[in-house]
Amino acid sequence: MTTTIRPATRLSGALRLPGDKSISHRYAMLAAIAEGATRIRNFSSGADCASTLGALEALGVPVRRNGTEVVIDGRGLEGLREPGATLDAGNSGSTMRMLAGILAGHPFRATIAGDESLSRRPMDRIIRPLEMMGARVRAREGRYPPLEIEGGRLRSIEYELPVASAQVKSCVLFAGLYAEGVTGVIEPVRTRDHTELALREFGAEVRVDGRRISVRGRPRLVARELDVPGDLSSAAFFLAAALLVPGSELLIEEVGLNPTRAALLDFLAGQGASIRVLRVEQRAGELVGDVLVRHSPLRGGVIEGALTAALIDEIPVLAVLGAASREGLIVRDAAELRIKETDRIATVAENLRRMNVVVEVAPDGLRVPGGQRFRAARLDSFGDHRIAMAFAVAALAADGECTIEGAEAAAVSLPEFFPLLEKVAGELGG
Ligand code: S3P
Repeated sequence: MTTTIRPATRLSGALRLPGDKSISHRYAMLAAIAEGATRIRNFSSGADCASTLGALEALGVPVRRNGTEVVIDGRGLEGLREPGATLDAGNSGSTMRMLAGILAGHPFRATIAGDESLSRRPMDRIIRPLEMMGARVRAREGRYPPLEIEGGRLRSIEYELPVASAQVKSCVLFAGLYAEGVTGVIEPVRTRDHTELALREFGAEVRVDGRRISVRGRPRLVARELDVPGDLSSAAFFLAAALLVPGSELLIEEVGLNPTRAALLDFLAGQGASIRVLRVEQRAGELVGDVLVRHSPLRGGVIEGALTAALIDEIPVLAVLGAASREGLIVRDAAELRIKETDRIATVAENLRRMNVVVEVAPDGLRVPGGQRFRAARLDSFGDHRIAMAFAVAALAADGECTIEGAEAAAVSLPEFFPLLEKVAGELGG
């Protein structure tokens, strides 16, 4: 599907976004192995989280979905049933990597596959720790999906993560639920901590000592009533659009502000963005609040080291903002970007170049000089949801009408993206 986007005159109004994708995956998986019925409100509307629910149903977990609310009938820690067919993770790395940790604790064989993009993403990062714990995992060429997981009794391990990855950390902690004793994970830098918070909510014993996170095995997980905060990574596109388009002012309500995710707000504020957090409260360990953003010229900046891990999903749209900033954007230590839904260093650079924006590419990052304008162009999502949305934002500031091929990829995390954008930016152009 090709979507046309006209330049916007301004963005205004208020928005409430569907539930955070990362948190929705975790709540659904833990609900499935808890005892009793968990009710999850404002569950993510994205296709990725639907893949998680579908896989859980195929594992014998009753799931009822009514609009944005999901009720999951937990089967208990070891209550999943051997699936009759291959589990389908779709485009979702989180589904495959995190669910693998739970499957490793079950005494049956399960195969989990994904779409073309997911089939190219490395899984050795979870295979290694799961095999150390006693599971058997077969993969194409030893590292690519589909994965065939033969689980059973697991032993606890101390695992030092070779890459900063919340998905791998979560996989090991979920497998740790099935091991005797305490399983520990040491992170190279802090990554999003939704798993730690969610495990505690469901009743597991989790400790965090600096960069080491541990969980005690064989807990009794108990069903909960939960509300998922709005997705800050989805909000990022609207924040960026409001910052970019003169005269804009946007209120984003009830959005997740977990400190391991909110580096985005600090990074933008540090460049001169007018961003105000109006109200914050805590729900199930997660911070939630309202954010008011106004159009602001940005200075530009450098993303490297721990900041790269904290902003990893936001880099495509930050690269767009970087081109319009005064000094530009430099991204380093971001080799992980090359193995996301697409090689995001390549797909960001390709679309920027189509818009006549200069960009230099490195093996693990990019440099976008500042003070540039976006020329109207034919853009492509390359099937990647965050590329579709990042370049819809760039298109709003272009010097004419743009098209985006494959814009429907946005549905992987936010099917409502284009209607919501029209709500605050006016008609996009068909
Ligand atoms: C996620 C972690 C990140 C992120 C992904 C969601 C999660 O991946 O890019 O969109 O929910 O844990 P990695 O942990 O592999 O970096």
